[in-house]
Amino acid sequence: MKRVITYGTFDLLHYGHINLLRRAKEYGDYLIVALSTDEFNKDAKSKKTYFTYEQRKQLLEAIRYVDLVIPESNWDQKPKDIKMYKADVFIMGDDWKGQFDYLQDQTTAEVIYLPRTPEISTTQIKNNLNKKNLATEHQSIVGQNNEN
Ligand code: CTP
Repeated sequence: MKRVITYGTFDLLHYGHINLLRRAKEYGDYLIVALSTDEFNKDAKSKKTYFTYEQRKQLLEAIRYVDLVIPESNWDQKPKDIKMYKADVFIMGDDWKGQFDYLQDQTTAEVIYLPRTPEISTTQIKNNLNKKNLATEHQSIVGQNNEN
């Protein structure tokens, strides 16, 4: 059985994530997702997630391409995970290109960067929703002023 491992935060799950997981699964038979914990996001990645670790994990486990979700709680666990879970392939989106090449020396896994799906990210969703909320608030304030 060929095993694939990938890492990420996967907050506000979107079609860019699904594409990544679908293509990652095509490289093997068993897909492991190492999901960044809330503490790791906050302390190491400076990210405040909308959904908690348990909520993000539940969503990932419901995806047919995902076989196992494990916690990612530090930057250095990758070689250990690859050995422990006997991963043959390590996959990340190409926003990380080059950053994990060292795993090819430290483990037996092949390192692959897949092209990101264009024009979608969790950050973009958050920004767009904030803009829409501001526009709605603005409209309702203008509306109230016109009524008075
Ligand atoms: N990913 C992708 N295409 C996208 C967005 C994400 O292929 N449009 C991939 C990333 O390259 C990574 C995985 O999905 O391998 C998890 O990415 P994550 O950082 O959780 O998602 P983003 O939407 O990029 O989140 P953020 O905006 O917070 O960085």
